Amino acid sequence: MNNISQFSFGISILEIIYVLASVLFILGLKMLSHPLTARRGNILAAFGMGFAIIATILFHEKDGAPIGNIPWILAAIVIGTIIGWIIAKKVKMTAMPQLVSFFNGMGGAAAALISLMEFPHVSEELIAEHGMANGHVLAILLGLIIGTVSFAGSMIAFGKLDGKIGDLRIKALRYINMSILAFLVVFTAFIMTRDVTASSELSNLVYIMFAVSAVYGVLFVFPIGGADMPVVISLLNSFTGVAAAMGGFLYDNQAMLTGGILVGSAGTILTILMCKAMNRSLLNVIAGVFGGGGAASGTTGTGNVKEITLTDTAVLLSYSRKVVIVPGYGLAVAQAQHICHELDKLLEEKGVEVKYAIHPVAGRMPGHMNVLMAEADVPYEKLIESDEINPDMPNTDVVVVIGANDVVNPAAEDDPSSPIYGMPIVKAREAKNIIVMKRGMGKGYAAIENVLFYDDKTRMLFGDAKASLQGLVNEVKDL
Ligand code: TAP
Repeated sequence: MNNISQFSFGISILEIIYVLASVLFILGLKMLSHPLTARRGNILAAFGMGFAIIATILFHEKDGAPIGNIPWILAAIVIGTIIGWIIAKKVKMTAMPQLVSFFNGMGGAAAALISLMEFPHVSEELIAEHGMANGHVLAILLGLIIGTVSFAGSMIAFGKLDGKIGDLRIKALRYINMSILAFLVVFTAFIMTRDVTASSELSNLVYIMFAVSAVYGVLFVFPIGGADMPVVISLLNSFTGVAAAMGGFLYDNQAMLTGGILVGSAGTILTILMCKAMNRSLLNVIAGVFGGGGAASGTTGTGNVKEITLTDTAVLLSYSRKVVIVPGYGLAVAQAQHICHELDKLLEEKGVEVKYAIHPVAGRMPGHMNVLMAEADVPYEKLIESDEINPDMPNTDVVVVIGANDVVNPAAEDDPSSPIYGMPIVKAREAKNIIVMKRGMGKGYAAIENVLFYDDKTRMLFGDAKASLQGLVNEVKDL
């Protein structure tokens, strides 16, 4: 009697903690949607995960026995925490998308491993009653396929973002991929219709499924353009969430189920939002018809550009009323966010109103510019979404484009043949004066020409963004 009451007490505590963890995940996710609360949201969700892990170790029981292999579990947690901590501390802001991709891949691999481990242990009573065609087996197989695709695809995305793997644009790949996908569907049905007494009899088949899914993950991401990797990572992230949710079904674990569903749905929403911000369909992204992989070396032009000196720029800015800064990928590469904020403070001291135009896909990851400018303590009220600031552009004395290119390219509005046609842009060209700060005439991620640089109102201030901004700060101070 005492045992039974202890057993239910432990399980009840576990259930309550899972519910608490789920609530913390939901609150954390909600807080991630605003830069001011994002850090706290992340910590909150991490606490939720911590509680769920500790509670599982302490209270989980199977057939009346407590959880085993505790030293192994603790060792894995310690090693994983140390490695994750060191990587996250060391990573540069510009390499964040790679890191996200790598971590996402690990999530997919974990979900796939769960399926591989659990398949031979599907309960024999369940098989005797329903055969292999039961929900438990389906959750295992789906978790295996989706988790493996996410793992393999994320590793290729990681390699591409790191510049180690190039694009492989072979048309036939599309048909090969569709055939592999069809094979996986048929293979799942094949396994589920076998007449066996124990799932372990079919164990070899799931290893074939694992291998084929890994090949599919690799070939799925290979043809997709480097510029589209953030969208792909978000998509693969949603896959990992679904695969983890399958684990939640298997173990009847609410925290895992909620966490997986949240990741799955958030990833899907983010994928859709990114596609929308670029005005492209997901199919168009997956078909890999966009972008040149980030080369920044184009030199062909459509006329002459006009340069400006640091001194002239400093004078122009200091005697303006309204200045709008458009940060882009180059600002992140140069790590010039702090010095940019210093310039903006100096100008404000001189009575200039300074705001930032934030484009939703500026940089290389969602919210990249928000995160970057928040890192430099730029007040959040100064970061204005591009569609909100655009109507004010004609009243802006100077727009300063720093390391941005595609997000201010008028081809998105004027040239129906352009790959970025239809993408909403920051309407920098409508300002009274345009200063573009970049190293040379390198192209943006879409690898196309930008007529803004040749506009009559545009002056180019060539150089690394950080060095140029430092120069400007010195000049403005001297005025
Ligand atoms: P880009 O169009 O990529 O242009 C960046 C510019 O920065 C380059 O033209 C480069 O020119 C300049 N640059 C590089 N290093 C610099 C440095 N150290 N100092 C000064 N300038 C430097 O950037 P963007 O305007 O931010 O647009 C983002 C692009 O990525 C869009 O095409 C978007 O669709 C794509 N994308 C973004 C996302 C997300 S979620 N953010 C997702 C998918 C795709 P120089 O070489 O001449 O210096």
